Amino acid sequence: MNFGVIGYGYWGPNIVRNLAALEGSKVAAIAEISPAARHRALKTYPDIKVTADPIEIIQSTEIDAIAVITPVWTHFELAKAALLNGKHVFVEKPFTSTAAQGEELINLAEQKNLKIMVDHTFLFTSAVKKIRELLDEGTLGKLYYYDSTRVNLGLFQHDINVLWDLAPHDLSVMDYLIKASPEAIVASGQSHLNGHEDIAFMTVYFPGKVIAHINVNWLSPVKVRTTLIGGEKRMLVWNDLEADEKLKVYDKGVQFTSKEGVYELLVNYRSGDMWAPHLDQVEALRLEMSYFVDCITHGRQPFNDGQAGLRVVKMLEAASESMKQRGGLVYL
Ligand SMILES: NC(=O)c1ccc[n+]([C@@H]2O[C@H](COP(=O)([O-])OP(=O)(O)OC[C@H]3O[C@@H](n4cnc5c(N)ncnc54)[C@H](O)[C@@H]3O)[C@@H](O)[C@H]2O)c1
Repeated sequence: MNFGVIGYGYWGPNIVRNLAALEGSKVAAIAEISPAARHRALKTYPDIKVTADPIEIIQSTEIDAIAVITPVWTHFELAKAALLNGKHVFVEKPFTSTAAQGEELINLAEQKNLKIMVDHTFLFTSAVKKIRELLDEGTLGKLYYYDSTRVNLGLFQHDINVLWDLAPHDLSVMDYLIKASPEAIVASGQSHLNGHEDIAFMTVYFPGKVIAHINVNWLSPVKVRTTLIGGEKRMLVWNDLEADEKLKVYDKGVQFTSKEGVYELLVNYRSGDMWAPHLDQVEALRLEMSYFVDCITHGRQPFNDGQAGLRVVKMLEAASESMKQRGGLVYL
């Protein structure tokens, strides 16, 4: 499978490195508008063709699939041109700038029998796979909440706010773990520096009393990547910055009981063991790229397809609408 990669900024080199190392795939060309980034690409990969013009690789008959690793506002035009030229598309998160654009790309891919995969990298991490396993086998019991803090200093994006930059990670994980469609969203945020919100808080209401909260911030003095997931039977802490024990499952819970004749509710707090499940040390992006090649080769629809990307964009649109109203409830 011959890939063309568009965009060699911060994230693009990771895509090129993984595709180049993968059995069965090859990076045939890189398109990048910045001369400095083109220079970096050529220095690292002297055998790969590097061009300033993305259309050149989109139209190349030697290329089967295009990876779009550019800022969000460019995703739609580049992915559309790739699909129109018969190429499968791997596109960065968030999929598109609007839900309407996402729908157009999905329809186009269907008409042309081509695959779209959206880079929801976290779905390929051992931690998220393990959490899904714990939920599916009932270890956590009925899900109560998902509460994530994803904060650090920068990197400021020029075309989007912090919600569109960082929240897609949590929204894609929630979409994968919770499975049900969200009912409503509330978000608030503030911009201090470049006109885009640099700090934001988002609450997502799901059916069955499941609630999710995401705290994203580009103005944090420290980097935090911690998610709490609470269930009826057990609770877990996922600290993605931990080297070894990223996931800790706590056998803790609360039970309310009432006895006949006793007016007050009795509250029982259960505090049992904590354990840290073993997680394989594999690069998520390597697994994801390999899965994409596999889906194309065998004609399978990836689970992180355009529809998955669209569900995340719809949540982001609802959050933007709510943020304009300083925290109004927006139904999906
Ligand atoms: N999956 C993840 O964990 C993850 C992590 C970081 C970034 N991203 C995503 O990757 C995308 C790129 O982010 P980044 O941080 O690498 O941004 P960046 O600004 O560092 O890099 C983007 C590069 O694209 C180039 N570019 C822009 N328009 C182009 C065009 N039309 N043709 C060719 N090159 C073009 C720019 O010159 C730049 O070098 C974004 O969508 C971002 O959300 C994903």
